Amino acid sequence: MPIDYSEKIPNNVDLASDRRLQRALESWQPNFLTWWRTMGPALPTRDVYLRTAVDVGREGWARFGHVAMEEYRWGVFLAERGDDRRIGFGQQRGEPVWQQVPGEYRADLQRLIVIQGDTEPASVEQQRRLGETAPSLYDLRNLFQVNVEEGRHLWAMVYLLHAYFGRNGREEAEALLQRNSGDLDSPRILGAFNEQTPDWLSFFMFTYFTDRDGKYQLGTLKESAFDPLSRTCEFMLKEEAHHMFVGTTGIDRVVARTAELMREHDTDDIAPHGGIPLEVIQRYLNFHYSVSLDLFGSEQSTNAANYYTAGLKGRWQEERRRDDHQLTDDSTKMTLVKNGRLTTEEVPALLALNHDLQSEYVTDCHSGLKRWNRLLDNAGIDRHLTLPHIGFNRRVGLFADHHITPAGNLVGQDTWNAKINSWLPSAADKTHVQSLMHPVYQPGKIASWLTPPSNGINGKPLDYEYVHLA
Ligand SMILES: [Fe+2]
Ligand SMILES: [Fe+2]
Repeated sequence: MPIDYSEKIPNNVDLASDRRLQRALESWQPNFLTWWRTMGPALPTRDVYLRTAVDVGREGWARFGHVAMEEYRWGVFLAERGDDRRIGFGQQRGEPVWQQVPGEYRADLQRLIVIQGDTEPASVEQQRRLGETAPSLYDLRNLFQVNVEEGRHLWAMVYLLHAYFGRNGREEAEALLQRNSGDLDSPRILGAFNEQTPDWLSFFMFTYFTDRDGKYQLGTLKESAFDPLSRTCEFMLKEEAHHMFVGTTGIDRVVARTAELMREHDTDDIAPHGGIPLEVIQRYLNFHYSVSLDLFGSEQSTNAANYYTAGLKGRWQEERRRDDHQLTDDSTKMTLVKNGRLTTEEVPALLALNHDLQSEYVTDCHSGLKRWNRLLDNAGIDRHLTLPHIGFNRRVGLFADHHITPAGNLVGQDTWNAKINSWLPSAADKTHVQSLMHPVYQPGKIASWLTPPSNGINGKPLDYEYVHLA
């Protein structure tokens, strides 16, 4: 079914055939727009060179053009699937997938959708003011692209809530606009989404580490036996790839500039020369990586086991796993703290599914480190960035009650307090990074703390007017 753009809400789910649902979503739409105006991008713009989804197919799914952001066509797009899809894991493996929500899983599925849905607008709120200090029009455009797509991901989850969860679902859809990132009374559900994203180094770290968590969560929901959720997540993953591209190449460009300045001035202390010192980059990385690891939930989780057994949430690339896809007799090794020491223990695989997903994520994160370290090598810098130990700075899971250094040593409160400013961004680091955040809005110009991107967007040159300010 092609995407229908003549509708008030563009969609490929034949919304027009379900008047009740259509009306319900059309009455949610103005609330979304009010939220976008008050909590979305603060910088006034006339229009932005954005991509809009026009097709869910493999080829040519997006079109590019200058759009006033408020007129962006947020809609409901589900990936296409054959009719014969079967459940790939859990107790009901091999049975047809569900087109409706089975009563016994209603609460759990709704919870999973609400948690995913809550993260989408949260990141837009966190990034609200970044446009005011964008390092270039290219970067500004990428920020807004990420923002409108996170807005669309909210639509994706709200559609499911409205279409499949009745009155409860509609109430949850309202609540998604009422909780706000960092709000003391009604914060977003997950910790990382209440942190601030006050500067562009944080933004690049967020899109690298936190959007990547999103990729893995969506990957598990894509496996779901609840077919509409699966198809929604599959299409969201397509959009998500660009967000991580922004993070990966953003950090590339910061590291490359840092390396240039280190060589040029023959010093690690490049702050006076307008760069971000490597150790500051490392501390930002430590922070964003550790708060993103928390998003996977506790490494040992009976909820995760139940979701899996029921067919609600699978593993990353479930089909490629060579086992019985039920895991009732399997075990796996994991690191944990026992008797005051870090040890490795065998635990039932079903209980370790969050750990399994987290491990896939960690492997993926290493690919970024490899790239950035190659950049440093090529610049003749004999220092490297590293991923801290998975137990470092954790608030959720098996390590939450322990202090573990980036190198993976268990330490006491005193050592932790004495060292914290060399492991996590200090007030001075944040002040320095903030001092570099000045907007650069002339086409083709780039702030001096990062290098220019290697390519423009969609074949456009770097000096293209990606954004027209108001
Ligand atoms: Fe998203
Ligand atoms: Fe994203």
